Amino acid sequence: MLDIGYLNGHFSPLEEIKISPDDRGFLFGDGVYEVIRAYHGVPAFWSEHFNRLVRSANEIRLHFSIEQPQFQRLLLSGLHQSGYEEGKIYIQVTRGVAPREHTFPSNVDSTVFLAFRKMVALPTEVYQQGVRVITLPDIRWHRCDIKSLNLLPNVMAKQKAREAKAFEGVFVRDGQVTEGATSNIFAVKNGVLITPERNHFVLAGVTQQQVATLAQAKGLDVQFRPMAISEFLQSDEIFLVGTTIEVLPVIQVNEQTIHDGKPGPISTALQKDFSSYVASLTLQ
Ligand SMILES: Cc1ncc(COP(=O)(O)O)c(C=O)c1O
Repeated sequence: MLDIGYLNGHFSPLEEIKISPDDRGFLFGDGVYEVIRAYHGVPAFWSEHFNRLVRSANEIRLHFSIEQPQFQRLLLSGLHQSGYEEGKIYIQVTRGVAPREHTFPSNVDSTVFLAFRKMVALPTEVYQQGVRVITLPDIRWHRCDIKSLNLLPNVMAKQKAREAKAFEGVFVRDGQVTEGATSNIFAVKNGVLITPERNHFVLAGVTQQQVATLAQAKGLDVQFRPMAISEFLQSDEIFLVGTTIEVLPVIQVNEQTIHDGKPGPISTALQKDFSSYVASLTLQ
């Protein structure tokens, strides 16, 4: 088994991939990305991730010429070559290679890069015990719906969380909870699920949508709407969702314990439902 890379039409061992120092992803963060998880060799929700990649690229006027069927073939081929059944696929598209100048270069092909690595999941105990998060001011730009390479505020937030012995930094903008540095957020109050609505301040999470669908299938009410920090702190349950973390219960926000400090029943049930769902995915 081997980490595999793909760059502009060619697969090779990941460590052999060389990116130009003039790549605009490197110089400006001028590009977009996705992360897809593969379960038992099946790239999960790959078409949703592809659609979001295309949307992100369109929003920054970046053109790349991969169509959906070719995208799927790339994912399957890279996974196959890596030999990983449980994989983490990183996809990055940048505005290409050109001497450094802010304006868009003309007649330059975009850079398409994929990395296929083994997925190392969080230990089971972390899911069973739940995690602590801290809140931080959301200092990001006004287009958090675009999965842009510019992740400096997210990097700073995640590092601050790590130094505070917390798992995630949760952004708060104008008194409203937006999302985590690497995740979307759900809260539960009186059996109703609330998750911040998807707008320019909140990424339209693939896992968020899937978990909402699973919750609705259980007959639960799911509300995509603004959530004030005060409401968030008074929740019965909180959990984070995302491609790599799946459904992860939160038991403490800053110094405040949520409910009885244990993962709640709805979080735990949805965690199980999500695991069963991805376990049942087949290639299509
Ligand atoms: C800022 C942010 N929000 C939400 C998510 C969750 O999105 P998804 O479930 O599509 O992975 C991520 C995932 O990387 C993220 O970086």
